[in-house]
Amino acid sequence: MIQMTGNNLPHPSLTPRTVAETALTLTQFMQPEHSNSLGNVHGGVILKLCDECGGIIASRHARRPAVTVTVDSVTFHQPVLLGRLVFVHGQITWVGRTSIEVELRVEAENLLTGEITHTNSAYFIYVALGEDRKPTPVPELLLQTEEERQRFAEGQRRQEARLARRHDGKQRTPRPTSDTAANPA
Ligand SMILES: CC(C)(COP(=O)(O)OP(=O)(O)OC[C@H]1O[C@@H](n2cnc3c(N)ncnc32)[C@H](O)[C@@H]1OP(=O)(O)O)[C@@H](O)C(=O)NCCC(=O)NCCS
Repeated sequence: MIQMTGNNLPHPSLTPRTVAETALTLTQFMQPEHSNSLGNVHGGVILKLCDECGGIIASRHARRPAVTVTVDSVTFHQPVLLGRLVFVHGQITWVGRTSIEVELRVEAENLLTGEITHTNSAYFIYVALGEDRKPTPVPELLLQTEEERQRFAEGQRRQEARLARRHDGKQRTPRPTSDTAANPA
């Protein structure tokens, strides 16, 4: 969650924002503490960077604290190696009433050759919170290009699929019966 300090947050404007206004690239050099003994960077390190980048973008759009509600389609295309310079590029693809989808693309640069490899892709979804810590409306996304309109429509379809999965998951979650609660395995 991106924290914003201060008890009285300014009331954010709901004026629509463009994708470009909040797009961001985070950069981090991969050190020994980021990797395993083979020199491969831990997946969790990459996910943390993605969440950090996506959270900043969502908060920039909403001008509110934003919490991660789900992570979708994380792919590790190539390993990230120790000593690489990692770029996490993030941009908003879709917004709902209170939720925001951010697309993350991770690239790793070999400093000795200049070669850049696309290593990861993911969508992180955030919900903006009001002062009562409940979901609060976010500005609309001002779509400026045909590509942005297409990405928005794809984001809408992904969100519908996520909500359908959430509904299914909730129905399938096993609940302890009085028997299993009394006699856990
Ligand atoms: C995020 C949270 C506030 C949402 O609460 P909730 O009671 O599910 O809220 P709602 O049902 O009103 O949903 C709020 C929005 O989230 C979306 N949402 C909820 N669950 C979702 C899921 N699994 N996938 C995608 N979107 C989801 C809803 O569609 C809604 O979006 P919309 O307003 O744009 O239509 C709550 O689940 C929470 O606090 N989770 C923990 C967050 C956290 O700790 N994250 C890690 C640290 S940052």
